Parts: sequence; structure tokens; C-alpha cells
Amino acid sequence: MNSKKSAYPESWYPLCHSSDLKKGEPLLIEAFDGKLILFRSEDGSPSVVSRFCPHMGTDLSKGTVIKGALRCPFHHRTYGKKGECLKVPGLHEKIKGPGLKNYPTIEKFGLIFMYLGQRPLFDFPSFPRVQRDADFSTALRKDLKTPYSSLLFNGFDTHHLTCIHNREIIAPPIMDSESPYHLRAAFSMKVLIERFYDIAVKFFGARVVDVTLDCWGGNFLIITNKRTKDNILITSVPRDQENSSFFLTTVTNKLEKGLFAEILQRLRLKLTTYLGMAFLKPDEVIVEEMRPDFRSLHPQQDLCVMKFWSFLDSLPKKSI
Ligand code: FES
Ligand SMILES: [Fe+2]
Repeated sequence: MNSKKSAYPESWYPLCHSSDLKKGEPLLIEAFDGKLILFRSEDGSPSVVSRFCPHMGTDLSKGTVIKGALRCPFHHRTYGKKGECLKVPGLHEKIKGPGLKNYPTIEKFGLIFMYLGQRPLFDFPSFPRVQRDADFSTALRKDLKTPYSSLLFNGFDTHHLTCIHNREIIAPPIMDSESPYHLRAAFSMKVLIERFYDIAVKFFGARVVDVTLDCWGGNFLIITNKRTKDNILITSVPRDQENSSFFLTTVTNKLEKGLFAEILQRLRLKLTTYLGMAFLKPDEVIVEEMRPDFRSLHPQQDLCVMKFWSFLDSLPKKSI
């Protein structure tokens, strides 16, 4: 484990699938250099706290969760959902020890997210076309041997869409922003047929795709395709300085009534998620071991990346 502290933008980060976190057992989070753990409190809500006990530094992922409180395996101090010390065994009940660091957490779309920071600078972003909580969602995870920064700019690199994704940009991207923590790019692209994947996209979608990218906090990327009902979220998280993970999630509201319509909708959602992963496949090899260096960007071809990079630079950063 690398002891050097890395700082990342204050944002919402995906940690794991909801089903990975069982009640009664702490879970070591494969993110942020393994410095955090998750556990479910009595009401089932997830809590993210620091991994090492402030008493003598014991690894709390080896602890137990009893009635929603996390118990250290060594001297049995217990911690509540906000990381507060509840009990120091052997001492008067009024005497408490120091607590654990705790982070805002939310469970959405079958995933658990945390906010890197004490108080969110922006709310958990919502999809422009999804009302309330989504009715259906599917999420897939991918682990990459890629430094985190190499992964982030990919969505805004419109230039590479033609080179490796068989998409031809047909009008210059329009970019705007609705807050200091948000950047939007909208563009249209033509689907060029080269792979089975492209045929499927044309069949289920359209020959021309109108896409809007809404990026929050640098890593929370909502992709809306105007011509289809697809709402896609790509969120990424650093595992350590050399590795990162991302989750691709598709979400939707229930569109039509009836069991058959519902089954079809769920199937379509799954298919969109798998097609989304297939779309990103060529990126995996490219970004592996990549070291981003943006001194030679071209303002005509790489305008989106340049804007994204200055956006990323402007975001407040935190380390764990
Ligand atoms: S190390 Fe955790 S209670 Fe002592
Ligand atoms: Fe890509």
C-alpha cells in the first residue's frame, strides 16, 4: 500500500454493488488505497468510515457488526453509523474514545456511493429524464490497471470517438455549465458500421446519435441519448495510484404498464448496459498504463478535453 496521500475532486464516488454489503459484516472498500470500510447500521443504511481503529490501529474490516454498531476485533470498542465511539469496554459508559472519520453515503441504482468530503458541495446528481428514483437499473463494474486521471478525460475526448469507436462527429460540441461542479457537452454523431456492436446500436437506436454528457465533480458522467430512452451513468473511483474502477449503470422509469412490457423494458436495460460496456472495450487497452500529458493538445480537435481539464483543475480536492 502506498503511503503517499493523493487528493481527488470532491464528488460522489461509487464503491460497490449494494448486494456486496451484507448486514452484520464490515466490508473493506476496494478504493482510495484501502483506507475505508463500509458497514450497514441497524436501519440497513450504509456507513463509510476509516478502516483503522483510533485506539491502536487495528484493521476494522476484521471486526463485527452487532446491532448496527461496528466492534473492533481487538479491545472491542464500538462505533456508530457516523463513526462516533459508542463504548469503551471496561470504562464508565460516559467515557468515550475518539471516533472514526465518516463520509456522506447514499445507496442508489443498486450501488453504494460516498461523497469525498465532510459536507457535499452538490447534491447527488439526478438524471435529466428520470423522475424520482429510477424504477429499474442495471450496473456493471470494471476494474482497470489504469491511473485514475487517465480514465476521467475519456468521455470528453470527442476526437477519439472517430478513431476507436466508429463514430463520426457531425457538428462541433456545444459546451456549457450550470454550476462550478458541472460541465456539459452536447454533440451529434453518425454511427459507422464496423462491428456487431454498431449494427446492434443502429438496430435499437438510430443512425445518428444525439448525446449529452453531464459531468459532475469530474467523475460522475450522465449520458443522455436524445433519440432513445437510454439514461447511462458512468462513475469512476481510484483504487490506488495505479488502478481504478468504473461502474456503468443504466436507469429508467417504468414506461408502460403490464408484466410483458416490464420484462421487455428490463431486458432492454440489460442489453443497453452490456452494449455500453462493449462500446468502452477499445478504451480499456488504450488507457491502461497511460500517463496523461496535455501539453500538445490541439484547440480545434481537443477543445472538449481542454475545457474538461481546466474544469477538473478548478474542482476542490480532498484526500482520505
Ligand atoms: S485497537 Fe480497537 S479497541 Fe483497541
Ligand atoms: Fe472512449
